[in-house]
Amino acid sequence: MPTPRTAIFPGSFDPLTNGHVDVIRRSARLFDRVVVAVLVNAEKRAMFPLEERVSLIRESARDLPHVEVDTFSGLLADYVARRGAAAVIRGLRTASEFSDEWQMALMNRHLQPDLETVFLLPSAEFTYISSRLVKEIASLGGSLDGLVPEAVAAAFSRRRAAAAHS
Ligand code: PNS
Repeated sequence: MPTPRTAIFPGSFDPLTNGHVDVIRRSARLFDRVVVAVLVNAEKRAMFPLEERVSLIRESARDLPHVEVDTFSGLLADYVARRGAAAVIRGLRTASEFSDEWQMALMNRHLQPDLETVFLLPSAEFTYISSRLVKEIASLGGSLDGLVPEAVAAAFSRRRAAAAHS
């Protein structure tokens, strides 16, 4: 039996978008197991608390049997080594993202020489979606249809309702 191949898909996921889900689906077709790893970042203020981001990913990836959600802190390269993963997955929406991603991939390889980064292109219909724009649209009352999974849209609605009642 060959050793199962695990890939780590790391990120902030504040919040998960349909573009992320597309990359998770594509990764799940290539690897035996995909771990969506949410960065625990005490410095960066996130809109959604870490636990909520994790549960929104779990709910949105429910139908994907080989997908697991975890959190990590510290260096990604160390986490990948601890998990014995074969690769890190990064989604590339545009060519302009490549130079930062290239630098990060090579730095991670410098830290862990056998760490491979696999870049996946999301479906073209998702290339303009970002967590930052989704948050801006939600805060200005715009529609999130087609941009985020249902669970994430519901989480925004709950936040709006809570804000209206406070
Ligand atoms: O969703 P993002 O913000 O694009 O994800 C960035 C992430 C979490 C992949 C990156 O910030 C990261 O790996 N952070 C962990 C700390 C680390 O390893 N830094 C060195 C990177 S070369």
